[in-house]
Amino acid sequence: MTTAPTSPAHASEAALRQMASVAAFEEAARAQLTPMAYAYYAGGAGAERTLSRNAEAWSRLSVWYRVMVDVSRRSTATTLLGQRIAAPLLVAPTALHRMACDDGELATVRACGAAGVPMVLSSLSTTRMEDVCAHATGPVLFQLYIGQDRPFVRDLAQRAESAGCAAIELTVDTPVWGLREREQRTGFRVPDGMGVVNLYREGYEGPTGHSGVGIAQALGWTIDASLSWRDLEWLCAQTRLPVLVKGICRADDARHALASGAAGIVVSNHGGRQLDGAPATAEALPHVVDAVAGRAPVIVDGGIRCGTDILRALALGAAAVQVGRPVLWGLAVAGEAGARRVLELLVEDLSRSMALGGCPDVASVTRDLLSP
Ligand SMILES: Cc1cc2nc3c(=O)[nH]c(=O)nc-3n(C[C@H](O)[C@H](O)[C@H](O)COP(=O)(O)O)c2cc1C
Repeated sequence: MTTAPTSPAHASEAALRQMASVAAFEEAARAQLTPMAYAYYAGGAGAERTLSRNAEAWSRLSVWYRVMVDVSRRSTATTLLGQRIAAPLLVAPTALHRMACDDGELATVRACGAAGVPMVLSSLSTTRMEDVCAHATGPVLFQLYIGQDRPFVRDLAQRAESAGCAAIELTVDTPVWGLREREQRTGFRVPDGMGVVNLYREGYEGPTGHSGVGIAQALGWTIDASLSWRDLEWLCAQTRLPVLVKGICRADDARHALASGAAGIVVSNHGGRQLDGAPATAEALPHVVDAVAGRAPVIVDGGIRCGTDILRALALGAAAVQVGRPVLWGLAVAGEAGARRVLELLVEDLSRSMALGGCPDVASVTRDLLSP
């Protein structure tokens, strides 16, 4: 049996400010977390080739900066799904935030509110979506898996709407769970005292437990290998919320998603946790952007670790990026304050990269920055 984590040490604001990179937060987080929790958060599928390619692919893209542009007044602000946000940045849906700090997803949503960026709440969160939305001061999107019990999935979508979520992100890269070797090695289990509370319901006879080692055994019951585009059409008919489709890497799949009702696309390989060998998202993004051709926003995640990576993604045509693990490191280091600092650091670094790149605003970040 594993036990729940203790609260993270409360690093002072001064100590947080000395951590100037996501890598510094990861190093400090690793010292705070149990080996099992660190392995779950950090790990990828198989030999973790896609996991490492994600970050490498961004860093390989040279930025052909412009000079002699007035960047004395800059703005990172943008509009996504009709909402004004402080930066083209969202917190990606990641499961089980209470493994990182006691306040779990409440700490995350407060940090997002302070930083002015939306939070995408995982359906596998350890705090109920209604409680998270009640603490939100900015947009919350709800990430959904279509599990086998369709009436329950419809109820979840309707709960997200009633709770005030701005959109649904439907994750489609998970017909089965990727093989996560680090989880096997460290014997990953959902710790005692926490669970995937959104998915509990009265009178439900099916599995709700998290027994078993590794994600596939602990949470295998939450997904369905039979999904097809018809299920996306079905979901879009169950809710008035815009449905973004997360986990796309191909142009044809992006077109299918739009034809089936998607209001946006998230280019993602689940942070390298599903098909090991999938392309880096920086490689996939231009194909998807060209296929979508401005009909809907394209968001991207996977390996975004600094402001220049955000700049690169915008230059390739992304409307915004998501970050997963960096926020988990912030939570593990100092709960809400740590997550907020990681988000601020990324926004500050984006602003600096825009200045150095000769881009006073998000609209001026165009593809020629990468291929003049
Ligand atoms: C620990 C962890 C848990 C995750 N849980 C989910 C999840 O519940 N639903 C989902 O759609 N994606 C999930 N993801 C994938 C993220 O949404 C996102 O695609 C990925 O983390 C982005 O890569 P990055 O961590 O390199 O920023 C998870 C990722 C991690 C690292």
